[in-house]
Amino acid sequence: MELNVSNRTKNLGTENAFVVLKEVNMLLEKGADIVNFCIGQPDFDTPEHIKQAAIEAINAGKTGYTESAGIPPLREAVAGYFSTSRGIPFSPESVVVANGAKPFIGYTILCVTDFGVGHEVLYPNPGFPIYESQIYAHGAVPVPYMLRERNEYRLDIEELERKVNDQTRLLIVNSPHNPTGGVLRKNDVDAIVEVIKRYPDLWILSDEIYSRMVHDGEFASIASVPEAQERTILMDSMSKTYAMTGWRIGFAANEHLAAPLARWVTNTDSCAGHPNQYAAIAALTGPQETMGQMMASFTKRRDLIVKGLNGIEGIQCKAPGGAFYVWPNVTEACRRVNAKDSEGFRKRLLHDAGVAVLSDIHFGQKIEGEGAHIRFSYATSEANIREGIRRIRKCLA
Ligand SMILES: Cc1ncc(COP(=O)(O)O)c(C=O)c1O
Repeated sequence: MELNVSNRTKNLGTENAFVVLKEVNMLLEKGADIVNFCIGQPDFDTPEHIKQAAIEAINAGKTGYTESAGIPPLREAVAGYFSTSRGIPFSPESVVVANGAKPFIGYTILCVTDFGVGHEVLYPNPGFPIYESQIYAHGAVPVPYMLRERNEYRLDIEELERKVNDQTRLLIVNSPHNPTGGVLRKNDVDAIVEVIKRYPDLWILSDEIYSRMVHDGEFASIASVPEAQERTILMDSMSKTYAMTGWRIGFAANEHLAAPLARWVTNTDSCAGHPNQYAAIAALTGPQETMGQMMASFTKRRDLIVKGLNGIEGIQCKAPGGAFYVWPNVTEACRRVNAKDSEGFRKRLLHDAGVAVLSDIHFGQKIEGEGAHIRFSYATSEANIREGIRRIRKCLA
C-alpha cells in the first residue's frame, strides 16, 4: 500500500551535493578510482584543543539539555567574535546557537514571512539550494536574483531594484558565496542597503559562514552598515572555519529576532549539542594558528586549481575571492565532448575520467546567456588537485 505524504514534502528540495556524494560513494565501494571535488567541507581534522574541550565537557557531565538559545558562555564568545570581526557591538542576548547554520535559514523564513500570503524572499541564483527549498516549504514566494560571471558573481543592484517590492520580506545574501566563490565588497553592501532601506518590512539574512575564508581584498559584512544593522540576521558557523562540519554548531545574531529564533529552536531541536557548545567556545577563544594554516593552504590550492583549469582548452576559470569553491565556465568543454549541458559533462567526468564535481543545475535555474558551469570544492590535497586536472585534460584531449 502506498501511503500519501503532503505535497509540501513531495516537493521538498534537497542539497544535491549529498545525492551526488551517494553516487560517488557507491562507485567507490565498487572499487572505482575517483578524485572527489564534490564535498564542501575542509579535509582537515578538527584541531586538538577543540576536541579536548568537548571531551572535558562530557567528563564533567555537560550532557543534558541547555537553554534553547545556547549556553551563556558560548553566546558571550560569539558576541565577542561578531563584535570584533564585524566592527559593531553585539550583545550575548542577541545571539542564538543551533545545530549548524543551516537551521537558521528555515527559522528566519518562518520568523519573517507568513504561509501562502504572497510574502516574497529574494535569494541568490546560483546559490546554496536550501534557500529555495526552505522558501517553498514555508509557503513564501521564491524570487531568485541572478549572479553573473561578468559581474564576478556579485549582486546586480539594478536587478535588486527591479525585484524588490512591498511584498518582499527577506533578502538572503551569501558572501563569500557558495558555489561561485564571489565576495561582496564594501561598495556592494552599501549599494544594497541604499535600495532596501526604502522597504521597512524587509529583513536581511546574511549568510557569512565563509567569512574567514577571503583570499584577496577585504571582507565586508552587510551587518556592519549602520542602516542595515537592526534588520540583519547575521549567520555564521563553526563548520567550515574550524573543520567542524559534523559537530553541528552554528549561530545567528539579531537583537529583535533572538527570542523568536530561540523559540523555533525549542520547537525543533530543543538545543544544540551540549558538549559541542563547549568545543565551540574553545574554537572561538583558543589559539587560532591551525585555522590560519588551513586558510593559507586553501589560498595555495585555489591558485593551483585556477591555474590548472585555465591550462585546459575549453575551460575558463576566474579566481574566486573567497570560500573553497571554483566555478569554471565549461561551455566549450561540453561542446568538445558532445555533452548536452553541464550535467552531461559532470557525468562524463565522473564515469570516463574518475573526477567528481557538481554541475550548475544543482545550484538553481539556468541563466540565459551564462553558459555552462561546474563546481569544484578544492578542500582537497594538492596531489588530488594535480591528478584531477591531469584526468580532465586527458578526457578533453
Ligand atoms: C552557503 C552555505 N550556507 C550554510 C551552510 C550550512 O552550514 P552548516 O554546516 O553550519 O549548517 C552551507 C554548507 O555547505 C553553505 O555552503
